[in-house]
Amino acid sequence: MGVEIRESPVSEDEFAAMERFVHDYLEASVQSEDKGGRMRWYPWHSADYRFNHIRNVIKLSGKIASQEGANTDVTRVAALFHDIAKLEVDQDIHAEEGARIAREYLEIQTDYPSSFVEQVCSAIEDHSYQREITDLPLEARCLIEADILDKIGANGAALMLLRMGYESRTHMDSAEMVERVLERGIEAKKRVRSQTAKDIADRRLKRVRWFKEWLEMEIAGIDTSE
Ligand SMILES: [Fe+2]
Repeated sequence: MGVEIRESPVSEDEFAAMERFVHDYLEASVQSEDKGGRMRWYPWHSADYRFNHIRNVIKLSGKIASQEGANTDVTRVAALFHDIAKLEVDQDIHAEEGARIAREYLEIQTDYPSSFVEQVCSAIEDHSYQREITDLPLEARCLIEADILDKIGANGAALMLLRMGYESRTHMDSAEMVERVLERGIEAKKRVRSQTAKDIADRRLKRVRWFKEWLEMEIAGIDTSE
């Protein structure tokens, strides 16, 4: 009563249909390529990893968007499509190509207003922007911050340990590898600007720091003398 509730143009069913489209697109990208072309055994290069990363970015960007006053529908749909082309084209054009695929899908499969489609596609295109993020619209900033945050924390540490296994390294190297995750996380955190993203980054970095300390405390083979 008296409070205007903005109708979200994106229903749960529509979002789920878009998720299936992105999932299947990633699977098909991997299946259609020549064997051995890229290191698919690498934890970061599989369709499974990429889809899961996208789900993490949807959740994180939605949270940042709602707390920072950005349009959550634009942000979440942009997050869903942002890496759709990642397994198919080179890194330096994946954002642009992702925007093209999203535009095609949204224009053909949905009835969203063209202003909505434009905002989503420009956020996708902007997500590989390497300079100061405050130059960009709020929705693109939320997406970039979420993309950064997914590399920081326990998730990043677990992937690094998985990589060690593929490289036949032992757990005695684990603290050193987790330290690397921590250093990269500290570096990455310097790019985030919103208070919401900074707080999430701090929580995640703390977990990694603890994990590294616990490894050093428990594993005799780790040399902690500097
Ligand atoms: Fe990403």
